[in-house]
Amino acid sequence: MTTATAPASVSRQHSAPHPAVHACDAGRFEIRPLAAPLGAEVIGLDLSQPLTQADFARIHRAHLDHHVLVIRDQRITPSQQIAFSRRFGPLQVHVLHQFQLPGHPEVLVVSNVVENGKPIGLGDAGHFWHSDLSYKERPSLGSLLHARELPAEGGDTLFANMHLAWDTLPAALQRAVDGRQAEHTYLARYAELQQRSPWRPDLTPEQVAQVRPVLQPVVRTHPETGRKALFVSEHFTTRIVGLPEDESRALLDQLFAHSVRPAHIYRHRWQPHDLVFWDNRSLLHLAAGCPPHLRRVMYRTTIEGDVPR
Ligand code: SIN
Repeated sequence: MTTATAPASVSRQHSAPHPAVHACDAGRFEIRPLAAPLGAEVIGLDLSQPLTQADFARIHRAHLDHHVLVIRDQRITPSQQIAFSRRFGPLQVHVLHQFQLPGHPEVLVVSNVVENGKPIGLGDAGHFWHSDLSYKERPSLGSLLHARELPAEGGDTLFANMHLAWDTLPAALQRAVDGRQAEHTYLARYAELQQRSPWRPDLTPEQVAQVRPVLQPVVRTHPETGRKALFVSEHFTTRIVGLPEDESRALLDQLFAHSVRPAHIYRHRWQPHDLVFWDNRSLLHLAAGCPPHLRRVMYRTTIEGDVPR
């Protein structure tokens, strides 16, 4: 099995609450912004219990404000994860149906564990920076990843703030890409992944038909906050439409490098029972990988979003 490693340029960020920011006092749970360019911890929420409309509204607002919510200590079942995820929209079923949780097609098992010679989940999910399902006409609004089994070392997940990436992009580059479209395809690096890992089966014609290339804006506007964000990734974006091949490649390389500058990144070090809920309209993410002999089992649900504009 391969072990994905984070790019050397990515610095480790602290996940402790920022000393200058006070937790929200109202309600039964606290929302504590992290000392990072994105993210907040949610302490004292129990998603095994019904969520009131007021609590849901607080979580929704915090998700829009912080882009990643680290909801601590969730002793929840897959059905409870699905129910909470559905509060935000319909769920998307991953094209690799081999890695669905039995009985729960909405749950993608993300795991490096092999049982009886068969992988129980997608072990190299998140190997390259990406926004989930950007290769679909309606990419994901957000994803929720629940820690079921964590390795003693490694297994971090990194998030890059694509609003900041846009805001800090040099003006000449902003002018070069604003209003343009780019092609995204699930198959962009599939063969490359297939060569180095046991988790990428040959796709059936039906699966290929589900992931035809789509065009997305290079710069999208968040449908709920109105903020602009860069929307290209090294995993799925293949070219900028209307530019010569070499120009498109050079531009994309600059955008990718800028997007994941350390100043834009939060590195999440998982704790047992963390449920991490991120906004794919605002972020890219990357799985840093863990030593192959250490077990990592995570359950992911993915919420459908709008057509990017
Ligand atoms: C993913 O890309 O959804 C998986 C991220 C992770 O395993 O940390």
